[in-house]
Amino acid sequence: DRGRGAATQPPVTNLSVSVENLCTVIWTWDPPEGASPNCTLRYFSHFDNKQDKKIAPETHRSKEVPLNERICLQVGSQCSTSESDNPSILVEKCTPPPEGDPESAVTELRCVWHNLSYMKCTWLPGRNTSPDTNYTLYYWHSSLGKILQCEDIYREGQHIGCSFALTNLKDSSFEQHSVQIVVKDNAGKIRPSFNIVPLTSHVKPDPPHIKRLFFQNGNLYVQWKNPQNFYSRCLSYQVEVNNSQTETSDTFYVEEAKCQNSEFEGNLEGTICFMVPGVLPDTLNTVRIRVRTNKLCYEDDKLWSNWSQAMSIGENTDPTFYVSMLLATPVIVAGAIIVLLLYLKRLKIIIFPPIPDPGKIFKEMFGDQNDDTLHWKKYDIYEKQTKEETDSVVLIENLKRAPQ
Ligand SMILES: *[C@@H]1O[C@H](CO)[C@@H](O)[C@H](O)[C@H]1NC(C)=O
Ligand SMILES: *[C@@H]1O[C@H](CO)[C@@H](O)[C@H](O)[C@H]1NC(C)=O
Ligand SMILES: *[C@@H]1O[C@H](CO)[C@@H](O)[C@H](O)[C@H]1NC(C)=O
Ligand SMILES: *[C@@H]1O[C@H](CO)[C@@H](O)[C@H](O)[C@H]1NC(C)=O
Ligand SMILES: *[C@@H]1O[C@H](CO)[C@@H](O)[C@H](O)[C@H]1NC(C)=O
Ligand SMILES: *[C@@H]1O[C@H](CO)[C@@H](O)[C@H](O)[C@H]1NC(C)=O
Repeated sequence: DRGRGAATQPPVTNLSVSVENLCTVIWTWDPPEGASPNCTLRYFSHFDNKQDKKIAPETHRSKEVPLNERICLQVGSQCSTSESDNPSILVEKCTPPPEGDPESAVTELRCVWHNLSYMKCTWLPGRNTSPDTNYTLYYWHSSLGKILQCEDIYREGQHIGCSFALTNLKDSSFEQHSVQIVVKDNAGKIRPSFNIVPLTSHVKPDPPHIKRLFFQNGNLYVQWKNPQNFYSRCLSYQVEVNNSQTETSDTFYVEEAKCQNSEFEGNLEGTICFMVPGVLPDTLNTVRIRVRTNKLCYEDDKLWSNWSQAMSIGENTDPTFYVSMLLATPVIVAGAIIVLLLYLKRLKIIIFPPIPDPGKIFKEMFGDQNDDTLHWKKYDIYEKQTKEETDSVVLIENLKRAPQ
């Protein structure tokens, strides 16, 4: 029965759980009582649903967890690092369940790190909350050393928001660093909402600045300055070129911005250059650019910066041209309408000739021989014919009456 004895290790003791910062959850335990002296103790642990299995010699384990739900850790002891070595029975310890009505918790709590210089969080009130709830937001990051409260809570339409400074942390390695966020209320009436924001995502850069547009050898070149705080290789770009004549809008996705001709790069220190193909040089072109983080340096690439200010190149840039166009347009339109009306009137005369006036007909028959005279003569003949027909009908009727 020795083998069976080795398989049934004694369980760990004194397993407990605590929370540090806002939501760093720490589980600790003591070694099992009565373990074999020859046993090299290792601890096997995992979270609910066998997630994140781990075998390690330490008697503690921690995890950053948004404490919106209860989370449990199961721990057992074993005598080797092998996963096939059966651990002792597992002991479980859970975080306390969140307090308060779940319907009272704020929803859609989201945070975006703007320009690597400030973080802005927004949320919607929970369903079961009074409209005069006074919200508070607390945040924590390893570089801050303590929990801080966000100062200015403001409303933004239906959303409530708060921004706090969080500068680029170049010294610390980005990985495994997150900001812990909790939103609750002064009175403690709503259930707190937690969020853990990784600093390798949710980053929205400032817009770039276009410095120069120019044509060379029939190609349009765009030179711009990237937002501060970002390495060029960590950004992707979108260049929009609108042509006012063809009324087209072309969008170019640029992963790596570089002009074939590197001499342009030297002209402006720290600028990025892109050659836009197929642009008509003799027309007005309006260019703007936006940027986003890429997968080389960040975990997501979803948030575009705002558009840069637009810059134009080409003809028709004179604003007085537009002003005079603006003034001239009603005059031209009015003139066009008058011409059109006159034309329509002429057209009407041709399609629907006026009902003949006998006096006019005679005058025209014996007066000037103009083109219309033949026309009027036809009417005259038609009239005569109808008259003759009427006469004959009368005649027949008279004949019919005669025998009676
Ligand atoms: C468990 O905790 C109690 C109280 O702190 C302590 O007396 C006991 O020695 C601990 N057990 C082990 C196995 O360390
Ligand atoms: C521990 O290991 C030693 C040497 O390998 C062996 O002599 C001894 O019997 C072992 N004791 C137990 C309890 O297994
Ligand atoms: C972006 O960050 C830089 C450097 O920290 C700063 O000078 C600039 O003002 C920031 N931009 C905005 C819009 O806050
Ligand atoms: C929120 O604060 C205002 C002013 O301090 C106070 O009048 C109001 O009662 C507070 N609301 C709640 C729900 O405590
Ligand atoms: C981006 O655009 C929005 C909406 O126009 C504006 O409120 C915000 O200040 C802009 N952000 C930057 C960094 O320019
Ligand atoms: C360019 O054209 C697109 C599509 O018509 C339009 O949405 C965009 O606002 C235009 N850009 C500028 C700078 O006017």
